[in-house]
Amino acid sequence: MGMFEETRNMRNNPIGIFDSGVGGLTVMRSVIDRLPRESIIYYGDTARGPYGSKDLTLVRKYAMDIAAFLEDLGVKMIVIACNSATAAGLGYVKNACEVPVIGVIEPGALEAVRRTRNQRVGVIGTKATIESGAYTRRIGSLSRKIEITSRDCPLLVEFVERGEVEGAHIEQVLEEYLEPMRVAGVDTLILGCTHYPLLHKPIARVIGDGVTIISSADATAAEVERVLAEEGLARDTDEPRTYRFLCSGDTELARRLGRMFLGPEVEHVEKASL
Ligand code: DGL
Repeated sequence: MGMFEETRNMRNNPIGIFDSGVGGLTVMRSVIDRLPRESIIYYGDTARGPYGSKDLTLVRKYAMDIAAFLEDLGVKMIVIACNSATAAGLGYVKNACEVPVIGVIEPGALEAVRRTRNQRVGVIGTKATIESGAYTRRIGSLSRKIEITSRDCPLLVEFVERGEVEGAHIEQVLEEYLEPMRVAGVDTLILGCTHYPLLHKPIARVIGDGVTIISSADATAAEVERVLAEEGLARDTDEPRTYRFLCSGDTELARRLGRMFLGPEVEHVEKASL
């Protein structure tokens, strides 16, 4: 088969999106809202996640396993909808896959560089993401003038996974996590973790007006659209689109949290251990 036929056949295949758990569904939400005709297979590694407190080498291996699994299912593109997995393995996954691979760090970093006015940018994320230095390196390579203040916020993922997304307790914890951002005078804050868009309201309240909050979910969805168009991979059929949800752990829990993170589209979750 020639290149042209292959591309034409691939374009109606689903996009593969994966995360350490359900957090990447915030990215899937943005992709659905932007590209409602696309079919998607989502994989949440709920049995082995969260990744944010794990060793980067191990997280890289998990990312490689899941990407290979999704490629075997015939996806036309892979989105690593997890900051920790992107930080640990984006380059490796790209090298190993034949389909285009997109991570969540680059789009958020670019957006922050575009939006900052005072050249002071804050980044919050998991321990793995912050310690990897991936955001600092990427922003630094885009602009030497920007001063970056980063902070890992280990408790935030736990809050969200318990379904707690508002309240005095969260704001108290955020006061502490965001204090260095205030001291540094950042005007732009990157939510460098897939769970944090669910905490947008309390984060906005604590950081205050005048600070632009960047959700890498929206920036990533825009990048997905751009790459699909560039590669001639945008879906082109009147057949209804499909969504499929897979996870490695408890499917009922993933379904409940999935509906909170994504919405009513999560009807059924299948178990798939790698
Ligand atoms: N999805 C992860 C991230 O964006 C957060 C959860 C985890 O620690 O695995 O970094």
